[in-house]
Amino acid sequence: MYYNCTSLFNIFFIFYINLKYNKNIRLLKYTMIKITFRDIKGNDKTVTSNIGETLMEAAVKNDISEIEAECGGACSCATCHVYINKEWLNKIPSATEMEEDMLDFAFDVKSNSRLSCQIKITKELDGLLVETPESQF
Ligand code: FES
Repeated sequence: MYYNCTSLFNIFFIFYINLKYNKNIRLLKYTMIKITFRDIKGNDKTVTSNIGETLMEAAVKNDISEIEAECGGACSCATCHVYINKEWLNKIPSATEMEEDMLDFAFDVKSNSRLSCQIKITKELDGLLVETPESQF
């Protein structure tokens, strides 16, 4: 079988594109994780998020209306208050003193209360279940 330079180039180009495309698909699977937000009535909304975002950013980006996030993640409003499902608490670093102080201003604080803007999404949080409070005030 005879190949000229152009057809060899095309074969290598197609091989390169396939390799690059498949690598991107694998990377996409690795960085996109699922988080479920459950409202006070028990309605679930599962969203995808990128590793490195905060839980608050994932909520706002996906129109989770119960997360208001008025300060934009500066840990100064407590309107991004959520309840972390107890099975997931040990996979999330403990709250800092600043977060604990701000939680004092949140509505209906419980032992699993957290400020979603202070939680970085990691691959270990794939499948995380988060409940939103009845109100942020
Ligand atoms: S967004 Fe304001 S404290 Fe989290």
